[in-house]
Amino acid sequence: MSGGDMLDFEIRPNSAPVSAVERAALLANPGFGQVFTDHMVTIRYADGKGWYDPRVEARAPIPMDPASAVLHYAQEIFEGLKAYRTADGSVTMFRPEANAARFVESARRMAMPELPAELFVESLHRLVEIDREWIPEAADASLYLRPFMFASEVFLGVRPAKEYLYCVIASPAGAYFAGGVKPVTVWVSPDYTRAAPGGTGAAKCGGNYAASLSAQAEAIEADCDQVVFLDAVERRYVEELGGMNVFFVYDDGTVVTPPLNGTILPGITRDALLSLATAAGHQVVERPISFAEWQADAESGRLREVFACGTAAVITPIGRVRFPGGEFVIGGGEAGRSTTALRERLVAIQRGEAPDPQGWVRRIL
Ligand code: PLP
Ligand code: COI
Repeated sequence: MSGGDMLDFEIRPNSAPVSAVERAALLANPGFGQVFTDHMVTIRYADGKGWYDPRVEARAPIPMDPASAVLHYAQEIFEGLKAYRTADGSVTMFRPEANAARFVESARRMAMPELPAELFVESLHRLVEIDREWIPEAADASLYLRPFMFASEVFLGVRPAKEYLYCVIASPAGAYFAGGVKPVTVWVSPDYTRAAPGGTGAAKCGGNYAASLSAQAEAIEADCDQVVFLDAVERRYVEELGGMNVFFVYDDGTVVTPPLNGTILPGITRDALLSLATAAGHQVVERPISFAEWQADAESGRLREVFACGTAAVITPIGRVRFPGGEFVIGGGEAGRSTTALRERLVAIQRGEAPDPQGWVRRIL
């Protein structure tokens, strides 16, 4: 299928949706990734046939043969973005085309078929439309959308599969970290790296997260919220967190973030913040920053603020950094002024409460 001739979705509404009363109870305090809506989108792919059978249907288990390729060699990619309810009752999404483009890039890296961007965006619209009652109203809540695709072909040879299933599920979400926007503590992993040059670090594939879990377990063991990975070659430079990019704010207002070197995920929040920080008058620099420099500048006070950013985390201040044998604090362990201002600015744009000069926001309902 080319991007131009759009497939028609078959809509099969859930015959036993969650009741309004039960839904209201679930939406009161959804946490992150624990509550799911009534529907899902599925689209199938087969070599020689292309994309076919797009559906909106009741969310349900997916029957799988035990020899489905994804279960053995992890040919799987995903995305994450949010739908927001605005003050006037409409619904927005933030830069869905950017997620569509990254999904294509991830697919290429994992030797998977490319889902046309129009079909990706259309699939999100369809799901949000049918499950719109699931979008929470609270100011810090939203409907998290999780598009993903996996190799569904039944075979055990090691080669790119010839059949795939694309799916979108939706999950009402509050703050990613249990403490809300409170500064988090991060763990700098001494043993594990996330991605090597030539590897899959820039792709949003399940395997990257599988490989990060021992390090995340170590972080939790050390009473930290998230793991920070250093580069795989020199074990010196800060790359990113398990599920977030990272920014540093200096006393002269300079904002620094590690460059996109192929081993970190090109975050859409990261990209938006590069523009928003520039627009707010910061000097913005993409350059490698070593762990030694991070520690020295935090201890001297030159480094004032550090924050993590991503769709799930939005902008979350990092107050404390632990590593084997020590720890240091950033900005007295409190959320910094620039972090808070950038967060407020980003959230206001996402929710349609502030001008959107870059045209990032799609009003979808
Ligand atoms: N880095 C990793 C490893 C992630 O999982 C995410 C989350 O998607 C990000 C960075 C931030 O990306 P984005 O801002 O597009 O959500
Ligand atoms: C996201 O922010 O969308 C992610 O996929 C990251 C994960 C920690 C939930």
